[in-house]
Amino acid sequence: MEPKPQRRLVVGNWKMHGLRRDLSELAGIGEAAAACPAVDVGIALPATLILPAADAAPALWIGAQDVHSRPSGAFTGEVSATMIRDAGGRFTLIGHSERRAAGQESNTTIKAKAEAARQEGLSAIVCVGEDAATRADGQAERAVSAQLLDSLPEGAAPSWLVIAYEPIWAIGTGRTPSTDEIADIHAALRRACVERLGDPSLTVRLLYGGSVSAANASEILRLPNVDGVLVGGASLRASGFTPIIRLAQNAAHLGPNNAQKDSAP
Ligand code: PGA
Repeated sequence: MEPKPQRRLVVGNWKMHGLRRDLSELAGIGEAAAACPAVDVGIALPATLILPAADAAPALWIGAQDVHSRPSGAFTGEVSATMIRDAGGRFTLIGHSERRAAGQESNTTIKAKAEAARQEGLSAIVCVGEDAATRADGQAERAVSAQLLDSLPEGAAPSWLVIAYEPIWAIGTGRTPSTDEIADIHAALRRACVERLGDPSLTVRLLYGGSVSAANASEILRLPNVDGVLVGGASLRASGFTPIIRLAQNAAHLGPNNAQKDSAP
């Protein structure tokens, strides 16, 4: 399944969770996806599960959580875009804050990874987000825009790109920014995208991530320039994830694409 721009996108991130037996969750998630035609549904899986998941759940957009910037070579423990594609993956997260922290990844590294994904025909979900101190200093918008501009490959056609705003302090904490704060950052990310990639990037989907659940997804998915959500903990079980998919379907009835309505001249 290849997602189409201008539809809502709900992506689960299983992080380092999941054994083959947990793939049974994909049946329920796939059913919800089929029942919600205005929503694309993806899951970023541990590398070991990409191949069986792509076989088991063709209706879902299956992807990876990270990628190396080179197609092959002496990089023990790494997984390339070519390998993800070969296993049936269609996208990869890039620059998730847990990867940025664990691998001390710079924006330059993330840009190289995004370029590698693009060359292999994988979509990239490039993640950005501020830490708590930056938010407290009132610098979140500036920091996140700079992070995005430094992470995007030059001249990238927007069709392969998704951007996720994930404030680090909101991930796995049960805390989220206010709806105004999310809307402000997403507007800034849209401006940065257009500055770098031009008007075609009005269709690039901007996801919010960080403690998304069935309790808060509805109001988040109704914000301008929020085209979907990236969901960690609540995506591990179909019982937690499928209500979010349904809420995205309901939000989609508000219009095909918030971004175009709000950003077009
Ligand atoms: P969370 O994680 O939904 O558990 O906060 C989101 C993420 O890290 O992508």
